[in-house]
Amino acid sequence: MGFEIKRVGIIGAGQMGNGIAHVCALAGYDVVLNDLEADRIKSSLATINGNMARQVSKGLYGEDEKKAALARIHGTDQTSDLSDADLVIEAAVEKEEIKRKIFSTVCPFLKPEAILATNTSSISITRLAASTDRPERFIGIHFMNPVPIMQLVELVRGIATEDETFELSKGFVTRLGKTYAVSEDFPAFMVNRILLPMINEAIYTLYEGVGSVDAIDTAMRLGANHPMGPLQLADFIGLDTCLSIMQVLHEGLADSKYRPCPLLVKYVEAGWLGRKTQRGFYDYRGEKPVPTR
Ligand SMILES: NC(=O)c1ccc[n+]([C@@H]2O[C@H](COP(=O)([O-])OP(=O)(O)OC[C@H]3O[C@@H](n4cnc5c(N)ncnc54)[C@H](O)[C@@H]3O)[C@@H](O)[C@H]2O)c1
Repeated sequence: MGFEIKRVGIIGAGQMGNGIAHVCALAGYDVVLNDLEADRIKSSLATINGNMARQVSKGLYGEDEKKAALARIHGTDQTSDLSDADLVIEAAVEKEEIKRKIFSTVCPFLKPEAILATNTSSISITRLAASTDRPERFIGIHFMNPVPIMQLVELVRGIATEDETFELSKGFVTRLGKTYAVSEDFPAFMVNRILLPMINEAIYTLYEGVGSVDAIDTAMRLGANHPMGPLQLADFIGLDTCLSIMQVLHEGLADSKYRPCPLLVKYVEAGWLGRKTQRGFYDYRGEKPVPTR
């Protein structure tokens, strides 16, 4: 096959973007990490450095490999720097109009054969693809959080995604050492279609006063053997992202069972978005997380 992925561009240096950059660089890809804000890029590179240092201290690889991987990552706030990428993965906020705007800005800079992917948690791949100049070379590559740790990647084809794009994406995910599961293009795909209604129900359980934050999380950790409680997990994902996914499920499947809990809406309106803003269902500003309800 002629086309080979060597250089990966990533749009959005948030918690997902830095994780994707991390695993790509370790797998030997050259990485261009792009964000609107130079500060975000700086803190993202510092996070990658810290996360890699932790992996080195666990003996997963050596200091030399870490150094080489970090040297492969180039941070930039210039969209034009994505022009020589073979694969560009969009990992900006979970808002359709923002993603569409990003695609219209980035497409004119891309090589005609470059693959454009989105890390969206829930939005229709077919619809996003239609807003680009390359629906055949557009695909959903949905990583899980935290990317360096989680084994799964969902691959989602839009209606127009051609076989070569799909095959190249499978090869890419495999080279990262991850396992892919193929999902049809339905709202929130597989993992979040199942996971987010469970989290939303946990928030309703809190909202209706059935249990406290601590009681609900303890119940699911010890009663259902989940590694972390659903409210802790919601904070980890980001409450804005949780709300956006519930809205996509609610609108996309037109079923009231997906109605976002009003308490989730309230937390997002307060700017309490979970770990990334230091406050959500827990307050992370002190030494230990403290439940906020
Ligand atoms: N958080 C999760 O657990 C998770 C898991 C899987 C997928 N996702 C998806 O990944 C995407 C990113 O989520 P996140 O948690 O990393 O969000 P985040 O809020 O941590 O990061 C988003 C980043 O995008 C940047 N950004 C916004 N507009 C931009 C633009 N026009 N150009 C370049 N950068 C821009 C922001 O500055 C920010 O740094 C979303 O689509 C989300 O649904 C999230």
